[in-house]
Order: sequence, then structure tokens, then C-alpha cells
Amino acid sequence: MSRREPSQTDLLHELEPAVAAELDRHLAMAKEWMPHEYVPWTEASNFDGPMGGVAWDVSQSRVSETARTALVVNLLTEDNLPSYHREIYESFGRDGAWGTWIGRWTAEEGRHGTAIRDYLLATRAVDPVALERERMIHMTQGFETSYQLDMLHTLAYVSFQELATRISHRNTGRFTEDPFCEQLLARIAVDENLHMVFYRNLLGQALELAPDASVQAVWDVVEGFEMPGSTIEGFTRRSLQIALAGIYDLRIHSDEVLNPVLKYWKLFEIEGLGPQAEQARDKLAAFLEALDTKAGRFEDKREQLKARQAQQSKA
Ligand SMILES: [Fe+2]
Ligand SMILES: [Fe+2]
Repeated sequence: MSRREPSQTDLLHELEPAVAAELDRHLAMAKEWMPHEYVPWTEASNFDGPMGGVAWDVSQSRVSETARTALVVNLLTEDNLPSYHREIYESFGRDGAWGTWIGRWTAEEGRHGTAIRDYLLATRAVDPVALERERMIHMTQGFETSYQLDMLHTLAYVSFQELATRISHRNTGRFTEDPFCEQLLARIAVDENLHMVFYRNLLGQALELAPDASVQAVWDVVEGFEMPGSTIEGFTRRSLQIALAGIYDLRIHSDEVLNPVLKYWKLFEIEGLGPQAEQARDKLAAFLEALDTKAGRFEDKREQLKARQAQQSKA
């Protein structure tokens, strides 16, 4: 790891022109959109409390229980933005283009949580009281990665995480079978995709400047990857429900998140790695194989479960 690779501080400086170029590309690609245009305001009505309206009841929700779970997990994940802002601010610093990017990215992300919340409240899709209580708990707890805010690890993490979030929003939207909800979540997914591209391209540059340290960071992140919402109460149960619905599961994580990004980086084609990075890459290859097997096993179990449920409903 010590083979004349630049330190993280040097790397932050060396990557700065690439950050500026990616920022320009992002600003040219990102189309302005108005969250209020995506919310069916005429469907909204007053709630109980100071307005004296009608309290929420599950019968008012047009979406299924599983769709509600996915929507709440996605929204709570977006809600933790102050923590994510702090994490990337501390990893990247605010010098030059890094700082400009963090501001822009935070502003774009800020739109996601507010737009989803407006939608869910206007359509009474989820329990607003439970949602608010959960938001308080989740945000109070905050989010912390386990990578000591190291720039390369953070870049690797967000490259995968933005893509995972994109897919999760897109599939949740489809799963609701509510065309307007799908439209909003698809719009948000476009933002997430651009975020992924930004981080993925930067890590691509880092792999050229400091291949050993970057490969190590990628392996560490893949090995310990957890969704940013993993600290939400009941996340294990909820993520199983989300996986059984095919909204986000191991197959998607393997085939639509990890592998495409690794392929883009041509990570398995990099030559001249030091022994430690070579070892990390071997572990990564073995991990991906094992993940593929696990994903297949989960798919089989899901099929069996579906078949059993179909049988039971016939009986
Ligand atoms: Fe977002
Ligand atoms: Fe994002």
C-alpha cells in the first residue's frame, strides 16, 4: 500500500480538476424539475389535530402494505440527509469544486425527502403519525459509515449506494401501482443515477492515481456494504419484505449494482497491483461468486414461497 501512492490529502488535490469537470458535466446533464408539480394536491384533505380534519386510517391508502413499507424505508433514508451531508463534507472537505459539489448534491437530495413526504401525505398513502415518530428516532440516531471518513472509502460507498437507491426508488414506484407515485419516484431515480455517475467517475480516476488504495477501499466497502437506511427500526424484517417483493434483493445488488460499477471501473483488468491490493481483489472476486450463489438460493426460496401461497389461496 505504501508503493509511492499519493496520500489521501494529496489525492483530494489531485482529483480536484476531475471533480470540477464532473461537476460541469453534472450541471449540464441535470434538468431542473419542480417537486410540487408531482403531487396531486387536490386529493389532499385536512388531518385531525389543530385543523379538525380526519385522522389517517389504513383504509385510505391506495397502496399495498409492502408498498407502504418500501415507501417509508425510502423516505426515512432520504430524511437522514443531514448525516450524509456531514459525512461527505468531512470526507471531501469544502475546498474548490468539492465544496461546490457537496452544496449542489445536498440541495438535490433535499428535494427527494420533501417531495416524497408531500406525495405520501397528500394521498394518505402511509400513517403520518408513525412516519413522523420514526423520522424523529431515525434522524436523532443519525448515520455513520465505518470508514473513518476516508475519501476513497466514501467515494466507493456512494458509487454503489446511489445506484442502489436509484433502483430502490424506481422499483418501489412500480410496485405501488400508482402511476403518479411511480412518476415521482422515477424522476427522483434520474437524480440518483446522475449522482452515481459523478461518484463512479471520480473513483475511476482515483483507481488510476492510486490503484492499490482504491482497490482496497472498493473491497472494504463491498464486503461490509449496508444500505444507508439499515439503522431504521425493524430494517431486517422490512428489507426481507422488500426483497420478497423483488424491489431490492441480492440478485439486484449483485447484477444491477455491484457488477456493473466494477465492470465500468475495469477493476479486474487493472495491472501491476501491489500484493495487498491483489489479495483484496481476489477476495472481492470470491465474494461476488458467493453472492451470486446466495442470490440464486434466495430466488429459489422466493419461488417456492410464492408457489405455496398460490396453493393456499386456491385451497
Ligand atoms: Fe435521494
Ligand atoms: Fe442521490
